[in-house]
Amino acid sequence: PRVAVVFGGRSSEHGISCVTAGSVLQAIDREKYDVVPVGIATDGRWVLESGDPDRLRIESADKLPSVDGAGASVALAQHVGSTDLVVSEPSQPPRTLGEVDVVFPLLHGPWGEDGTIQGMFEMAGVRYVGAGVLASAVGMDKAYMKIVLQAAGLPVLPSVTVTAREWAADPQTCRERAATLGYPLFVKPARGGSSYGISKAHDPSELDECLEEAMRHDPKVLVEVSAEGGREVECGVLQALDGTPETSVPAEIRVTGDHEFYDFTAKYLPEEATELDIPAPLPPGKTKEMQGLATRAFEAVGCEGLARVDFFVMSDGSLVINEINTMPGFTPTSMFPQMWAASGLDYPALVDRLIQLALK
Ligand code: DAL
Ligand code: MG
Repeated sequence: PRVAVVFGGRSSEHGISCVTAGSVLQAIDREKYDVVPVGIATDGRWVLESGDPDRLRIESADKLPSVDGAGASVALAQHVGSTDLVVSEPSQPPRTLGEVDVVFPLLHGPWGEDGTIQGMFEMAGVRYVGAGVLASAVGMDKAYMKIVLQAAGLPVLPSVTVTAREWAADPQTCRERAATLGYPLFVKPARGGSSYGISKAHDPSELDECLEEAMRHDPKVLVEVSAEGGREVECGVLQALDGTPETSVPAEIRVTGDHEFYDFTAKYLPEEATELDIPAPLPPGKTKEMQGLATRAFEAVGCEGLARVDFFVMSDGSLVINEINTMPGFTPTSMFPQMWAASGLDYPALVDRLIQLALK
C-alpha cells in the first residue's frame, strides 16, 4: 500500500510534528509500504518532502526542524473510486504519483489534530490514521473535551473559559470568575498543545499576564484548578484490529529542577528536567482503574485508532483526567511510543498497527 505521511502544518506544534515524522519515517517498513513524505509548510502549502530523518531532529527548544516549503507542490485529486497524489512544479505539467491508500496525518494542534484536515480526507474519500472529524475537534478543544468527559461521568478538574472578547469587554468579571476556582490556577490556550502558551498563576496578581500569554495562542482560554500535589501519569489507548480499545501500561512523569510543570522543555529536552517511570509505580488496582477510565474517555470522545489519556493521581489517590490527545507525539522522548514499547509493542509494530487499522 502507498502511505502518505503528512507532517509539519500550520500550528505552533509544526516543529514537534516534524520530529514525530522523523521517527515514524525511520520506523516504517519500506518493504511493506510505499511511503510518500508530504510536508505542510507553516503557510499551509503542501510540498513533497525528502523525509530525511537526519533533518527531522530536535536540537534545542529554539532549533526545531521545519518543512522548508521549497519542494514541488502536492495535492490530493479525487477520482471515481480512488484518490491520487498529484505533484506540480512551476512551468511543468502536473504529474501523478498514483493512488494513495492511506494518509498518516502526523500533525499536532489546529489544522491537523482538530478535525479540519480529517474533514478534507473524508471529502476526498481517502482513508487516514486516527480519530475522525468530531473526535478530533472535541479532543483539540479543552473546554468541549471537558464537557464531553464530564457528561460521560468521568472526573475532570474544574475550570472556566475566558474568551478574548470577554477579556476585552470586562476584565474584572473574568478575574472574579477565575478566582471562584481558587488559586493557584493553570491558564491554557483552549486549543493548543505541547504546553505552548500555558502558565501558572500562583495568585491573582499573575492572572492577567497568564491570560494574555495564553491569548497570544488562542482567543479562547481555559482557566483550570491546579492539581496541587498530584502526580502526572499517562496511559496509551490503541485499538486492536477488531476495533477493541486496548490500554498500555501507564507511565509517570516526574518533573525536576526548576520546572514547575511538564512544560515544553521538560517534554522534548528531558535530560534537562524530566524523569519517566514506565510503568508508573501504582498499586495494581489503581493501574486497572486508570486503564478503565482511559478506555471510557476514548469511547466518550469517539476516538479511533489511538489516543493518549493524561491523568493526575491526586494526593488522596483519586484519579482525574487532565486531557485526551488524539494524535499524541511520537518523538523519541514522547510517552505514547514508550508506553507501548513497555507493554510489548515496539515502535515499528505500533506504526504498522496504526496503518493497518486505517486500511481496514
Ligand atoms: N501535543 C503533543 C504532541 C502531545 O500530546 O504529545
Ligand atoms: Mg494536549
